[in-house]
Amino acid sequence: MLDKKIADMLNEQVNKEFYSAYLYLDFANYYADEGLDGFANWYQVQAQEERDHAMMMRRYLIDNGVRVTFGKIAKPDKTYKKHSDALDFGLEHEQFVSASIAEIYAAANEIKDFKTMQFLDWFVKEQGEEEKNAEDLIKKMKLFGGDAKGLYMLNQELAARVYAAPTNGPAM
Ligand SMILES: [Fe+2]
Ligand SMILES: [Fe+2]
Repeated sequence: MLDKKIADMLNEQVNKEFYSAYLYLDFANYYADEGLDGFANWYQVQAQEERDHAMMMRRYLIDNGVRVTFGKIAKPDKTYKKHSDALDFGLEHEQFVSASIAEIYAAANEIKDFKTMQFLDWFVKEQGEEEKNAEDLIKKMKLFGGDAKGLYMLNQELAARVYAAPTNGPAM
């Protein structure tokens, strides 16, 4: 059995992960509409990963005797004025999620819930990678996105991203 506060925080994080998927699909909708199918693909794959995160947390809660409940998933409210906007929103969002996971980690540490800390270790590492990916995208866009040819090439590169189910992560 998990501590009630930790269980509630994790249950809330399930919602945040589904929201992440929703937000990234919103980015994908925007890029698809702009004719940037590679960018759209990149975020569609990203959305699949976010769903996986939600499923891992859901599984952890269930396996620890918690009745999982779902809340409303908020409507993505971003407006995109230029092609780099979604990339900036993406980094901002990953930083928000990292902080949210750190809060759960700190709460687990406070009550010596080492099991949850160990479970969250994978997410701490994952967030480091996600923030780096988001930063790299912003850098590439700044370097190459300025002219049509560069943007075309970058779009091609992002089109190559393929979803792969995590092999080393917590069970779903
Ligand atoms: Fe996530
Ligand atoms: Fe993420």
